[in-house]
Amino acid sequence: MAAAPIYLDHQASTPCDPAVVAAMAPWWTERAANPSSRGHRPGLDAAAAVEAARGRLAAALAVPAEGVVFTSGATEADNLAIKGLAEARLDRGRHLITVATEHRAVLDPCRYLERLGFALTVLPVQPDGLLDLDRLAAALRPDTVLVSVMAANNEIGVLQPLAAIGALCGRHGVAFHCDGAQLVGHGPLRPLELGIDLLSLSGHKFGGPQGIGALVLAPGVTVAPQLHGGGQEGGRRSGTPPLPLIVGLAEALDRALADAPSRGVRLLALRERLRVGLEALGGVSLNGALTPRLAHNLNVTVAGVEGGALHRQLRRWLAVSGGSACSSGEPSHVLQALGRSRHEAAASVRFGLGRDTSEADIDGALAVVSRLLQDLR
Ligand SMILES: Cc1ncc(COP(=O)(O)O)c(C=O)c1O
Repeated sequence: MAAAPIYLDHQASTPCDPAVVAAMAPWWTERAANPSSRGHRPGLDAAAAVEAARGRLAAALAVPAEGVVFTSGATEADNLAIKGLAEARLDRGRHLITVATEHRAVLDPCRYLERLGFALTVLPVQPDGLLDLDRLAAALRPDTVLVSVMAANNEIGVLQPLAAIGALCGRHGVAFHCDGAQLVGHGPLRPLELGIDLLSLSGHKFGGPQGIGALVLAPGVTVAPQLHGGGQEGGRRSGTPPLPLIVGLAEALDRALADAPSRGVRLLALRERLRVGLEALGGVSLNGALTPRLAHNLNVTVAGVEGGALHRQLRRWLAVSGGSACSSGEPSHVLQALGRSRHEAAASVRFGLGRDTSEADIDGALAVVSRLLQDLR
């Protein structure tokens, strides 16, 4: 059997922490119950476990627990934030602002609303991937109801200036939504201190299970529900709350944040080892600003090779990606927004390091890329 590829796609999904799996275990089996079944003891225990998890998540993010709405992940949280906020503020205006490098879970709901008659401004980014605040300020209009800017980019890892964006939105009375899927669990992110009104997050990006996330709302911010039914989550998101996943989400966030500083230092050193090693091969150039950037992300364009051939060869040895896991094979819209051609975007590689990444993984990846470049060029 062929050896398993070296897994360097932790930004697409990182393995569930075994301690999180253990914390979830009883809630799948002997303690399983519907948290909405308040007529018996197991149901009441389930409801208490959901509320305890909500409290833990809220404490980790320094928000009131009432603001936490559990969702199936960041895609759903982004949809609820954007469509729900736009619908709740129909009387205030119909203009939305977002950024060209956002995840499709943000861009597509915005475009959907545009088809329904909303005005949409999609701001470009600078060549380093960062938003120009003057452009944002100039794009604000009296009828702007929402600005959506991500915390950390899923492809190039650059960190947007959230506090400045939050302050600007606050001064104009515009809601600020932030897709925090790639930053939550990896560094401190206190939405209220940054002026963020709506924050999306996703468990499987920080050692929690897939299929669970949350939308976190600042006090006083309301969204129109996008899933109608039993009225769970304070009427904001109907559907049986997935008890084991919710328990796992809270456990994972606490665990991820507890060792985030030391993990960050270790992964930064490994990421730099990888970057320096790749750049030494020649014709390999970095995408996005080196700082401010997630410690565990690297994204490079390789000159002199065809993207399809590069990735076909790479995948035999490495689990890496050419862009977002959700972008269905098209050359990355993020890299093209930085000014890369379609050809260059296709010949680009995202490396996402994670908790288990070792020096041997990095050296193995460098050896693979070095060998393939010799063959392909
Ligand atoms: C920035 C960002 N937003 C949204 C998502 C979607 O998250 P989920 O898989 O939880 O729906 C991802 C995952 O790739 C992401 O990186």
